Amino acid sequence: MLPLLFLSLSLGSIIAFDRSPDDQLLLVQVVIRHADRASMHGFATNISEEIFFRGNGELSDDGIENAFKQGLDYRERYVKTGFIDERMITNQISIRSSSVPRVLMSAASFTSALFNKTDGGMGRIPPIFTKDSEEDPLLVPPLDCLNGWEDVVKKYNLPFSKNAGKKSAKSASTMRKSRKHAQALVVLMKTEMPEECKVVPPELLEAIVAELPNPHINLPPEWIPCAENGAKKLLFKYMELLAGAGEEFNLQRLQRTAGLLTATLLDNMAAMLNCTSSECDEPKLRVYYTHDINVLASAFIFDAIHLYQNKTPAFSSSLVFELRNGKFGPYVNILLKNGVSAPFVESDRCQKNCTLDAVVELTKSYSIREPAWCQLSEDEVEPSTKRSPVLQSFLSLLSTLSLLYFYHL
Ligand SMILES: *[C@@H]1O[C@H](CO)[C@@H](O)[C@H](O)[C@H]1NC(C)=O
Ligand SMILES: *[C@@H]1O[C@H](CO)[C@@H](O)[C@H](O)[C@H]1NC(C)=O
Ligand SMILES: *[C@@H]1O[C@H](CO)[C@@H](O)[C@H](O)[C@H]1NC(C)=O
Ligand SMILES: *[C@@H]1O[C@H](CO)[C@@H](O)[C@H](O)[C@H]1NC(C)=O
Repeated sequence: MLPLLFLSLSLGSIIAFDRSPDDQLLLVQVVIRHADRASMHGFATNISEEIFFRGNGELSDDGIENAFKQGLDYRERYVKTGFIDERMITNQISIRSSSVPRVLMSAASFTSALFNKTDGGMGRIPPIFTKDSEEDPLLVPPLDCLNGWEDVVKKYNLPFSKNAGKKSAKSASTMRKSRKHAQALVVLMKTEMPEECKVVPPELLEAIVAELPNPHINLPPEWIPCAENGAKKLLFKYMELLAGAGEEFNLQRLQRTAGLLTATLLDNMAAMLNCTSSECDEPKLRVYYTHDINVLASAFIFDAIHLYQNKTPAFSSSLVFELRNGKFGPYVNILLKNGVSAPFVESDRCQKNCTLDAVVELTKSYSIREPAWCQLSEDEVEPSTKRSPVLQSFLSLLSTLSLLYFYHL
């Protein structure tokens, strides 16, 4: 904390943006990924299926515990300090979660750690609001849209499946087109497979990353360098590609992934500032429980993606947006807490300019207030915002991976 403060003070004379730890905290918003789960497909060891007894894609018991521990660190920072009431005052908080079970379960575990227990020793679990996955572009971004993949098709030279108009072939063609990201992943694996991952069966790359943090699992030692490094980098690249972020920048995909969330975060800040000091019904803590892809996309939009160091977000990875009032008026301090064992790390935004105005300006081209257009079928003319519950399926695309990997390209 202190060295950072000194840094910002010493730079202060150049960029004239000073902060003080005493600056009033007005609003805390957290965008957080669910906790530890089994891989979406396959198991890395012969005991994995027993450890991850809820099945592929589901939260593990370690996930339940880690979401809780992550909650304890937030309790330290925002509840014990008196910012939020320890007894849980309902209108001080707002918890939104994706309705995918692993996310809802993580949200319950995380939030129950925030507050004091009741006198009878029960956890105070706040109300958690959710929406059907198919109707929730805020927290369950649509990834199987057909539009917005032109750059990827071109860059990775993906087979372009324009069918000759045979009606019977249409659904197969839609299928192929909707899986551009799967094809891109296959190309990534063929062309950019890290050296240390060549000893791992490609269809297990995601499984070893998912199982690595689990204390009950012992991966074969020769897989560990890949699980710790290479596979995380490959998945990061894939994540960027899905989100249209970073090196795979694409405005359409980026807005679809995190445009609504960006606007929501900014609107919440505006609403809080609009509060008069006497009356304020705005929650002071807002939590958005969601998936790795929109955490990563939000990190990119708010100029913090470099904090990930090119590795895919950890379980319980969280971005924090603190709205504070300082000498120069309202500003946004952005932090990353990348998983349960990681500390809160400030982004360097405030060494540049993190006034609310500057942050609004930084993000305004990505921020949208209506769901982005998602074209779901080839003959669709009207914009659609509905879609299949894709997050479930997108990583399970990995299930077709070994097949694709060996036969498709
Ligand atoms: C699991 O694999 C390990 C190492 O390959 C082996 O020693 C062990 O006997 C196996 N356990 C079971 C239950 O198959
Ligand atoms: C919450 O619990 C702590 C001990 O863990 C206690 O010191 C504190 O007074 C409690 N707060 C309230 C509001 O009951
Ligand atoms: C600010 O407050 C005014 C008056 O209560 C209200 O009309 C307006 O919609 C508010 N603006 C925001 C951004 O919440
Ligand atoms: C920060 O950026 C805002 C918006 O662009 C600008 O109005 C303000 O002057 C800048 N502040 C500093 C200290 O550079």
